[in-house]
Amino acid sequence: MKIVILAGSARRDRKSFNVCVHLEKLLSGLGIEVDLLDPVKTPLPVFDDFADGNPAVIQAVEKMGKRLENADAMVFVTPEYNGSFSGVLKNTLDYFWAEFSEKPIGVAAVSSGKMGGINASTQLQHVILSLGAYPLPIKLLVPDVDNTFDEHLNPTSEEFIKNSNRFTKKLLWFANAVSSAKNTQLYENAE
Ligand SMILES: Cc1cc2nc3c(=O)[nH]c(=O)nc-3n(C[C@H](O)[C@H](O)[C@H](O)COP(=O)(O)O)c2cc1C
Repeated sequence: MKIVILAGSARRDRKSFNVCVHLEKLLSGLGIEVDLLDPVKTPLPVFDDFADGNPAVIQAVEKMGKRLENADAMVFVTPEYNGSFSGVLKNTLDYFWAEFSEKPIGVAAVSSGKMGGINASTQLQHVILSLGAYPLPIKLLVPDVDNTFDEHLNPTSEEFIKNSNRFTKKLLWFANAVSSAKNTQLYENAE
């Protein structure tokens, strides 16, 4: 089982990245191969069909496409910005499509306020359907993110620890269910 975590913030003081790192640790601890895609380490320019003819961009898009393609399941981790998910995440998603097809995808949404990115998460689940992928019905909402981790980036909120454990278990169950179903005759007949 391989899981890609797609980080949705490139902000200098980003807090949602702590959630990515925590999920990475949780999943790796369960023996899952995790690939964390960070828009700071592998930035893509504002989407253009032809990648501006720039060989460096074309290569970066191809590399990221392979990493996405290799995943059995994914987690999109987004901050809530102005009532929605982040632009940097949407920009990344718009470069790809087939790479997401029929993959289970969980959403984690983060805010500094009390609502835990509920608007961002719901809208992102709609986008996941448009990508031809399967949104995990439950999501990981992280309110008050500024008080969720200590200075060593360890989680301090019992609620967050409980919710992230549950989210991880549900994601793995869902990912396993979809992977198993893909190995059956039923799946081939539905093609
Ligand atoms: C441009 C911008 C817009 C924001 N809009 C919202 C919002 O609509 N709702 C909300 O709850 N928090 C909002 N916030 C607060 C963010 O959720 C909070 O800063 C969070 O830490 C962002 O994630 P990040 O630190 O990983 O970038 C906004 C923050 C920024 C920078």
